Parts: sequence; structure tokens; C-alpha cells
Amino acid sequence: TRVIVVNGPNLGRLGVREPDVYGHQDLDTLRADCRAWGQELGLDVEVRQTDDEATMIGWMHQAADEGTPVVMNPAAFTHYSYGLADAAHMLGDAGLPLIEVHISNPAARESFRRHSVISPVATATITGMGFYGYKLALEAVAHCLAQ
Ligand code: DQA
Repeated sequence: TRVIVVNGPNLGRLGVREPDVYGHQDLDTLRADCRAWGQELGLDVEVRQTDDEATMIGWMHQAADEGTPVVMNPAAFTHYSYGLADAAHMLGDAGLPLIEVHISNPAARESFRRHSVISPVATATITGMGFYGYKLALEAVAHCLAQ
């Protein structure tokens, strides 16, 4: 099964951006990790990143149309993008798992990070586990697909 792992704004800066919060590893490392973790689970994983809200929304439309499960780190869009939340809602309508991931634990940070507009439309949310959270998210996708 194909799964897309989509990452929102500034996650192309992993490794450089606030390494104390997001770690020292970069997006290419995350990409390789996710592909390897997917392989163990029999999932064909494609990792994407964009800083552009319209692109991210387009990926949700495509996933809903094609029946592709999604792992999403919405990054800052988490906190304000009702456009992305509406698009993510369509995955649920299509019966597809959507697992929300955050590298950090947003609940332990600034107050604006405490609210997610994506969580209400996500199947599950995993936070605070670093890159390992993506592995847990892929396991969650595999679990959902096996139901
Ligand atoms: C993040 C948390 C968000 O609050 C932040 O805007 C990000 C990354 C995380 O992975 O911890 O860009 O989604």
C-alpha cells in the first residue's frame, strides 16, 4: 500500500532549525527513515514537504481521490489552517486513515501551539517523540489498514 508522509512549512529546514527542539537530523534522513520503516510494514512510503498551503491542500484532495492513507506533520498550519483541516476531513469521509504527527510536544510549548485545528479530523495524533513519531504513525496506518 502506498502511504504519503506530508510535512508542512519550515520542515525542509530540519537539522538547521532549532535543533534543540527538532533534533540535528535533516529532512533527507527523515525521508530515508520513513521509507525503511514503511518497508518493514509492507508500506510504500513517499515523503513530501512544502511551505505552501495550497500545495498541501492539493495533496489531500489527491490522496482522498486515490485512496491513499496520510501521515501529516502540518507544522504551523496545525494551529490556523481551516482550509487544510477541511481538506483533511475529506480523508475521513473517504474512510482513509490520517495520522497527525508532531516532532516536538506542542502542548509543552508556546500557548498558540496548544490548539490544533487538524486533530479533530485526524484518526490519531502522535506528539513529542521526535522522528520516531513517524514510525509510530506508520504503524498506526498499518494497524488501521488491517482493521
Ligand atoms: C511541529 C510543531 C508546530 O507547532 C510547529 O509550527 C512546527 C513543527 C512539530 O513537528 O513539532 O513547525 O509541527
